[in-house]
Amino acid sequence: MSQFWSPIVQSLRPYMAGEQPAISGLIKLNTNENPYGPSPKALAAIAAATDDTLRLYPDPSALRLRQAIAARHGLDVGDVFAGNGSDEVLAHVFQGLLNHDAPLLFPDVTYSFYPTYCRLYGIDFRAVPVDENLQVRIADYGQDCGAIILPNPNGPTGIARPLSEIEALIGGHPDRPVVIDEAYVDFGGESAVPLIKKYPNLLVVQTFSKSRGLAGLRVGFAMGQRPLIEALERVKDSFNSYPLNRLALAGAVASWEDEDWFERHRALLMASRERLALELKGLGFVVLESAANFVFARHPGRDGAALALALRSRAILVRHFPAERTRDFLRISIGTDAECDRLVEALREILG
Ligand SMILES: Cc1ncc(COP(=O)(O)O)c(C=O)c1O
Repeated sequence: MSQFWSPIVQSLRPYMAGEQPAISGLIKLNTNENPYGPSPKALAAIAAATDDTLRLYPDPSALRLRQAIAARHGLDVGDVFAGNGSDEVLAHVFQGLLNHDAPLLFPDVTYSFYPTYCRLYGIDFRAVPVDENLQVRIADYGQDCGAIILPNPNGPTGIARPLSEIEALIGGHPDRPVVIDEAYVDFGGESAVPLIKKYPNLLVVQTFSKSRGLAGLRVGFAMGQRPLIEALERVKDSFNSYPLNRLALAGAVASWEDEDWFERHRALLMASRERLALELKGLGFVVLESAANFVFARHPGRDGAALALALRSRAILVRHFPAERTRDFLRISIGTDAECDRLVEALREILG
């Protein structure tokens, strides 16, 4: 607390990101990064862009990247917005599209940045309880609201809803913006992008951080009909004209174009996820059905926080969320098979 703070700063509850410790030999399964890293073509493009042109500002409209994304999905370039990680895109979405008189709806168990944005921008929100299996029940969103945001697959559970349910949600609220956060969709979910042309109230947000292994580059994007994208552009151009630097733009375009790398590595990751889920079940864990690059698992009779601590003392980081409905669980990002094997060995030792 300081006398120099603006009043709003005193009321903020900042998001707690997973730790990024600089410890060598650590097995880091706590922030859903991709163990395989980016396409070598993305690295080469970043290296090639590292030259004298860095003295110049980057393209403020990220045109080449937006064109590449639009072409893949049969959209117009004006239907795509790009930002500094999907967290920044989401921040603009909350400010530009989700702040209305009636409350914003999102699940009570979800990406914990959402209530943080609401407090920052003074957005009234209502957390809709997930059911006893931590599943989102679309029927529970049939209530009056200002807007809806839903990750599909959801975090931190990894559970995906079928596209038919997502369409029912969007179609059921034609006068309200409905935002689907698809940070993890490439690991087995069904994307809502094909619905964009049909629904003017739909915005889909995706990221290069997970399935493209570029969390460190900070590139995210949103897709929707022109009026929604225009709202994001208006916020962006009132905040930071150049959110994507030259290296990020070069790397993201090359990554997007390397379909072969993308397909091979997401398949590898999904296979490792199924393998790890089986191993964990063999150790007595209850593992939720995941369509993401992590699993959410609890061991009956074992304290989640204590398990996370015991793993940490063995140089393995996983994520624990102490809120009431999630505190029994560990969220474990999928690493290489060798990393997952080390995790399973450590858990076997801890469980005795
Ligand atoms: C559901 C969800 N949305 C968005 C993000 C933000 O990703 P990034 O800012 O790296 O694009 C995350 C990060 O973990 C997430 O879990």
